[in-house]
Amino acid sequence: MSKKSYNIAVIPGDGTGPEVVREGIKVMNTAAAKFGFSLNYEYFDFGGDRYLRTGETLPDSAIEELRKFDSIFLGAIGHPDVKPGILEVGILLKSRFALDQYINLRPVKLYPGVETPLKDKGPEDIDFVVIRENTGGIYTGVGGAVQVGTPMEVATQVMVYSRPVVDRCIRYAYEYTRKRNRRKQLTLVHKCNVLTHAGDLWVRAHKEMGDREFPDVKQDYNHVDACHRWMGKSPEFYDVIVTENLFGDIITDLGAMIQGGLGIAAGGNINPQGVSMFEPMGGSAPKYTGLNIINPLAAISAGGMMLDTLGEAEAAKAIDQAVSNSLASGSIKSLAAGKMGMGTSQVGDFVAKGV
Ligand code: IPM
Ligand code: MN
Repeated sequence: MSKKSYNIAVIPGDGTGPEVVREGIKVMNTAAAKFGFSLNYEYFDFGGDRYLRTGETLPDSAIEELRKFDSIFLGAIGHPDVKPGILEVGILLKSRFALDQYINLRPVKLYPGVETPLKDKGPEDIDFVVIRENTGGIYTGVGGAVQVGTPMEVATQVMVYSRPVVDRCIRYAYEYTRKRNRRKQLTLVHKCNVLTHAGDLWVRAHKEMGDREFPDVKQDYNHVDACHRWMGKSPEFYDVIVTENLFGDIITDLGAMIQGGLGIAAGGNINPQGVSMFEPMGGSAPKYTGLNIINPLAAISAGGMMLDTLGEAEAAKAIDQAVSNSLASGSIKSLAAGKMGMGTSQVGDFVAKGV
């Protein structure tokens, strides 16, 4: 029997993207060798430089090509010479929509030895997962503007959700909560006291599916403003959070900060039936490009998440444990770029050795 092999599309992207991608791949390859599977990589140069050269972000033909891969590994998108919005919409959001990556999975986990701004909180308190709906809501772009530039200008951006789009996200979240098997609590985050139409749809979908199919999972609800408060005061309260797109965008930035910053926060844009894309949550940090000082841990963790989604759970666990042990050892002095006490590639070597 031939051993398993996976085809990965790699988009290193802009700024420090290529540097962190290199370390993510280094660690994934170590895990692949250890656990008996192989990874084949094909590189794509989408990003700011290509856009400046050709005017192309992520063309439709590229989407068709990306569909053929088992997964996508992304570094970072964002170039100082490109107007904000063009690459984000043209590459990141386009991939999410065109490949129907309707789940954004963002674990918020404080590893031992990592400093959190939350006083008196430790790894046992900060360990939850945010499941952000990733293709609906305000991000659909429904809306418009009229009489632009006049005193009577009107602009709308509509929070669009259909029942099937809500249901498929909530189903993923319940299944994830059951599989995670920790506190088995799924908190829906919304703002149903004000968003009485869209919020009500989510509240009913969450309750009805839970009652009907997931009696073993505890149902819980927080308004998004209160959720922010709890994340800052009692993060141990959470196990799994499910929420709509924009709220998820906002709360996961807070989540990243309480787990030690963007150097460690990883995310997956997941199509459970299709091609998913994994990325460090941080940006391209152009000022650190090429200096071997950017933190690759988020990219390394994103690689671990990718292997998990591909079905290589043991390899994923080994990567997570290696990241955790590396941090617990105290050898990595800080998670901030330039303050790690070792270079980008040394961090990659150090983690790889522990896999
Ligand atoms: C994120 C980012 C993106 C988003 C931007 C870059 C379009 O903030 O992945 O959280 O808003 O989803
Ligand atoms: Mn964001």
